[in-house]
Amino acid sequence: KVLILDFGSQYTQLIARRVRELNIYSEIHPFNKIPEDLASYKSVILSGSPNSVRGEDALHPNLDGIRGVKPMLAVCYGAQYLAHFSGGNVAPSDTREYGRANLSFIKNDEEFFANINEGSQVWMSHSDTIKELPTNGVLIASTKDVTNAAYRIEGEATYAIQFHPEVYHSTDGKQLLENFLVKIAGVNQDWTPDSFVEETVEAIQEKVGNDKVVLGLSGGVDSTVAAVLLNKAIGKNLYCIFVNNGLLRKNEFQSVLNQYEGMGLNVKGVDASERFLAALAGLEDPELKRKAIGKTFIEVFDDEAHKLTDVKWLAQGTIYPDVIESVSATGGPSATIKSHHNVGGLPDFMKLKIVEPLRAIFKDEVRRVGATLGIDPELLGRHPFPGPGLGIRILGDITAEKVRILQEVDAIFINGLKEWGLYDKVWQAGAMLLPVNSVGVMGDERTYEKCVALRAVESTDGMTADWVNLPYEFLQKTSNEIINKVKGVNRVVYDISSKPPATIEWE
Ligand code: XMP
Repeated sequence: KVLILDFGSQYTQLIARRVRELNIYSEIHPFNKIPEDLASYKSVILSGSPNSVRGEDALHPNLDGIRGVKPMLAVCYGAQYLAHFSGGNVAPSDTREYGRANLSFIKNDEEFFANINEGSQVWMSHSDTIKELPTNGVLIASTKDVTNAAYRIEGEATYAIQFHPEVYHSTDGKQLLENFLVKIAGVNQDWTPDSFVEETVEAIQEKVGNDKVVLGLSGGVDSTVAAVLLNKAIGKNLYCIFVNNGLLRKNEFQSVLNQYEGMGLNVKGVDASERFLAALAGLEDPELKRKAIGKTFIEVFDDEAHKLTDVKWLAQGTIYPDVIESVSATGGPSATIKSHHNVGGLPDFMKLKIVEPLRAIFKDEVRRVGATLGIDPELLGRHPFPGPGLGIRILGDITAEKVRILQEVDAIFINGLKEWGLYDKVWQAGAMLLPVNSVGVMGDERTYEKCVALRAVESTDGMTADWVNLPYEFLQKTSNEIINKVKGVNRVVYDISSKPPATIEWE
């Protein structure tokens, strides 16, 4: 496996994903928390950083045991770091070097650049520049504006590049990573969805033995893949609980429950809709609603788990981005914008040990693992859906009638996206019920009814998002259908806000 030391670059996770696309397992660790079992890593990559090596508080880890010992690739900040602290010189560049550039010079016969030709496009993003190479540095590539775009250290398997091979705009970036990791570092390319399943199943069996495990299914991709993996490992010792919080999509509870049973999972459906509605009665504040939903979920789940005897483990569908320790450039934790109740797990009183079979993989890898396990592609391709469900898409207080209205609206919108072949082009879509009544006219009668907003966004991780340019004809037909069919709604609007500054959900 490969160790990626994170200096806080926004691209660090991309490095890990590119390496994994080469069927090589990689792990991200903060630059100041170098793992102790270094022997288990065949190679090390240093990430970029928003910081400057010239600053007083420059991030400055001790690389003894890595540099000169293991093949090492230093990217951007990493490359400047090696230069600055090992006899070279880094200075502010005269022009900000940002965006596309092309390699105008590549030194002959460098294995590092095998199958990459002069002219290759690379992506730059830095404001300091390497003026002088470190001791024993050998220049191996330049661009028009950046002479020291890539160098290696004579006598070591140490390589440094100023550009970012991990981003899509570095056209040969993946080839470069392969050259370094496979040809130079000699890492094996044997990490595949199949090998992941095999290893994980073994690891689960070893970890939980004959103990019973309980898992909460949500209908989402992560908990489903986690359940199927565990089912493969321990079969009937896995007890799945699927809670209907009354805030799911129309017919979702029954249809997903049937699907789970069809997959051979040992699953119990618990309809707790009334209990959730009661807990939510009169609450208008989004964070209070989230807390009430989270708390009720834990109560319901706990009641059910207590009906099972001798359960020792709680399984969760936690994925890698939830567990990577982040390096913040400012040093402080990032502000809580919305509390996501399903991150953070269950309270201590359950006293269960935790098993998280997807802890090491990214969302796209979860989907690939799911496909290898034979899970229905339609289930794997489902849009993300928030834990509190329609509860945060009904603005203000929640009633059974409002839930019914929104379920109908949402079903028309989502089914329409599927019929028009748009569903897979959208990252997430849904409808919001607004706390607004407006005047309309239906037949000869004046109406004074609810307004709904439709939202469809494209995104890769939900952190940033943009609204999707859905065809006018689709919006027209959907709006008509909603107003004609859903009693209580007389107006439909389409949300054209990006995130930031808006968020995906309205609450
Ligand atoms: P926002 O609205 O913060 O949403 O732009 C980003 C992503 O997170 C989902 N989301 C939630 N998921 N519990 C969840 O499990 C929550 O409380 C929650 N709030 C937002 C949202 O659907 C989107 O995918």
